[in-house]
Amino acid sequence: MQSSRTLYLSLLKKCLTRFIFPDGDLDHDLVRCHPFSPELRIQGLDWPTEAETMVGVRRLNNVEELANRIFSEGVPGDFVEAGVWRGGVAIFMRALLAAFGDPDRLVWVADSFEGLPVANPQAFPADEGDQHFTLKPYLGIPSDVVRANFRRYGLLDDRVRFLEGFFIDTLRTSPICEYSPAESRRRHVRIDHSGARSPLPPSFAGRLRHCGRLRRAPVLQKSSSGLQGAGGDR
Ligand SMILES: C[S@@+](CC[C@H](N)C(=O)[O-])C[C@H]1O[C@@H](n2cnc3c(N)ncnc32)[C@H](O)[C@@H]1O
Repeated sequence: MQSSRTLYLSLLKKCLTRFIFPDGDLDHDLVRCHPFSPELRIQGLDWPTEAETMVGVRRLNNVEELANRIFSEGVPGDFVEAGVWRGGVAIFMRALLAAFGDPDRLVWVADSFEGLPVANPQAFPADEGDQHFTLKPYLGIPSDVVRANFRRYGLLDDRVRFLEGFFIDTLRTSPICEYSPAESRRRHVRIDHSGARSPLPPSFAGRLRHCGRLRRAPVLQKSSSGLQGAGGDR
């Protein structure tokens, strides 16, 4: 029989992805959905209707493996999800802290809570032709809704910290990028947004070298007109 921790985390992953309560079909102007497919949901290759995360079961497994290593090797540091959408991965991070009995790490929940910034091809050539910012009705989830999702799983407390605004502003000024030896708080950051299109402050990765670890989720490849393969292991 699996341990109660394994059973809890496994059930949570299936709930957050709606793998065991199959999602409905979503019909949005730009985000076209297909009938629920377990294979796509495992890989995180579809656009969920109800699920709290779109990353799929496989990427949640990856987050769990990394957390396992962090806990077993005693690596210090808060967890940061930058690009949270409905909050699923961040909720799972808070559950991992609870399941492993971690006493004091924080989970930082960073997002504009209004989708992507408007494309700006003059400043960022990769923005040319990109329409993802128009998906605000689907991608822009207000922070109150994300808080309610945490509450739904009994995981909202003062160890969950919201960082609201576009990364170009928040990740430049936020306390998560500061490292004070006296405080000795480090951060494990998971970036889940289309980086080229909605840039991080240029100094961010450099500053993180001194205060944490950055793990970039491979670029979201769900196309606005249907599905495409996702690259890498997010
Ligand atoms: C792919 S979704 C994140 C999926 C999420 N990790 C999950 O568990 O399903 C991208 C998120 O990044 C946010 N986002 C994208 N670009 C951003 C930016 N430049 N600043 C702040 N938030 C941004 C969007 O609002 C959206 O919530």
